[in-house]
Amino acid sequence: MRLIKEISQMKDYRKKIKAPQTVGFVPTMGAFHQGHLSLLRKARQQCDKVVVSVFVNPIQFGKGDDYQHYPRNLSEDISLSEKEGVDVVFAPSLEEMYPQDYSTFVQVGGPLSSTLEGASRYGHFKGVATVLVKLFNIIKPDFSYFGEKDYQQVLIVKKVVDELNLDTQIIILPTIREKDGLALSSRNSYLNKEERKVAAILYKALEKAKLWIEEGERNPFSIVSKMKDLIKKEPLARIDYIAVVNPETLEKVEDVKGEVLITLAVRIGETRLIDNMRIGHK
Ligand code: PAJ
Repeated sequence: MRLIKEISQMKDYRKKIKAPQTVGFVPTMGAFHQGHLSLLRKARQQCDKVVVSVFVNPIQFGKGDDYQHYPRNLSEDISLSEKEGVDVVFAPSLEEMYPQDYSTFVQVGGPLSSTLEGASRYGHFKGVATVLVKLFNIIKPDFSYFGEKDYQQVLIVKKVVDELNLDTQIIILPTIREKDGLALSSRNSYLNKEERKVAAILYKALEKAKLWIEEGERNPFSIVSKMKDLIKKEPLARIDYIAVVNPETLEKVEDVKGEVLITLAVRIGETRLIDNMRIGHK
């Protein structure tokens, strides 16, 4: 396995891999957990070469966000990558990706980027879209792997790839969870023992919503209101948003017909967690 830190070296490596050999790419911000590893494993099964990027992308963090404190553990990520049979860990420095005079950004317009996470985290998706277009251009992956845990990110990436005519196929994999349902996230490491227990409330609320829908509930307002009541019982939890939306457009639905996405962001203490569930009533 190779560790590459320079863009020029990464491009040289890529140029030597010729079709029909395929390159699978897993973009990450490091601090690997089983969610990241599930993406690496799928890429390993499907592609001849697997590249994982580890880069904590400053431009997708907002002002009071946790960029400085975001967990970083490159040596552990390297050894996990090695175990998973990864071919290249691409870990560029900040200066390599964004030199002093850097000024080009990719902005996805429309409701997809301004709602939900886009509304709560101003500029977040501009940062995500920009770094991914750079990484796609450097690595030129045939297949790129993303987790459904960051559902809105997946829709944005697909739109960017489609509208900018990029040649990578987006593969989406399910959310990996702890035993109590908490979605794995690098940010879970911020939680203290008590907060960690409380954090399971996001998944519990989603499971309840699924049950209510299965029992015949069709009113999204009452689903959201019952989820809020449930979560508010936990004094350490503060709701940012809960929404019942169309899984393709992320527009709020008026009633539950066909498949819906329920998505939420909740602060547990100081840690902001997100989760979502697709619920398919026919
Ligand atoms: P990061 O949070 O490190 O996540 C990297 C990938 O792992 C994303 O596709 C994310 O959806 C996926 N992932 C995270 N938790 C998961 C879980 N519990 N189960 C399955 N997959 C999971 O997302 C980012 O980094 C960045 O925004 C990035 C795309 C790298 C751009 O900087």
